Amino acid sequence: MHDDASTHQAHDDPRNDTALVWVNGELRPRPEAVVNVYDAGFMMGDGVWEGIRLHHGTWAFLDEHLDRLFEAALAIDLNIGRDRAEVRQALLDTQHANDMHTDVHARLMVTRGVKTRPFQHPRLNQSGPTMVIIMEHSVPSAPRPIRLATVPHLRGLPMTQDPKLNSHSKLNCILACIAAEKAGADEALMLDVHGFVNTTNSCNFFIVRRGEVWTSTGDYCMNGITRKKVIKLCRDNDIPVFERNYSLVDTYSADEAFLTGTFGAQTPVGSIDGRVIGDGQMGPVTTRLRDLYRELVAACG
Ligand SMILES: Cc1ncc(COP(=O)(O)O)c(C=O)c1O
Repeated sequence: MHDDASTHQAHDDPRNDTALVWVNGELRPRPEAVVNVYDAGFMMGDGVWEGIRLHHGTWAFLDEHLDRLFEAALAIDLNIGRDRAEVRQALLDTQHANDMHTDVHARLMVTRGVKTRPFQHPRLNQSGPTMVIIMEHSVPSAPRPIRLATVPHLRGLPMTQDPKLNSHSKLNCILACIAAEKAGADEALMLDVHGFVNTTNSCNFFIVRRGEVWTSTGDYCMNGITRKKVIKLCRDNDIPVFERNYSLVDTYSADEAFLTGTFGAQTPVGSIDGRVIGDGQMGPVTTRLRDLYRELVAACG
């Protein structure tokens, strides 16, 4: 019997089969939404992206997503070729062309574009960037709390491939996820280079201990926008919150654990490495933060 669950699970929605995809300024049906096989994103994983959600007509925290996209592009020396207003407009055009209003997820991707030859050097990119926006109706639907497994794949130091980059190449995270799945879990819990608990392969990670919310120092993990919002919600609502180093010892004995990300907001964790966390269900602090986050998103509109 299948008992699959994932942080990015959504109900099937047949409208997505006919949704239009924005490819370099053109809205194309999904089968025709293709990029060149010489594209640097396909060939080298050379690009950056954002996942953004539409709630009741408003793209939540869009400015922060655009900040992070442009910062990442600057970091990898990629000229997006469009300013913020143009990128925002492309998002709105895709939304309107698809008549989408709420519970929608967009993946906005920019790569270094089509290469002249199939090799690594960025000088081989001479035709400008490739930008694509995929938009889907999606209501998150993880059927149960997530099971995590700790894996040998680490969150690396910033001087290798900075784990703060939302890069197209996610191989380290994908290998972590494969290892977790082979260990019977849904997602990987990843440690930092010192062995402290850091993040999962696709979400930020929090624990709750005796009413306190703990998350990593923020080094080695994605500077998640949902992570930042949850920390601020704690501070604004007198919930003690700490960005600190902690180990698996603290983690296994936590009362609650949850993940954060734009797609699933706050996703409860039921077990880690076979140890049940709390009673294995979503705990009261996670529930409260989920409600507060929902109110925050609703107030964006
Ligand atoms: C590795 C990783 N961690 C965390 C996140 C969550 O970030 P956010 O809350 O900005 O969606 C993402 C999302 O892209 C991610 O790829």
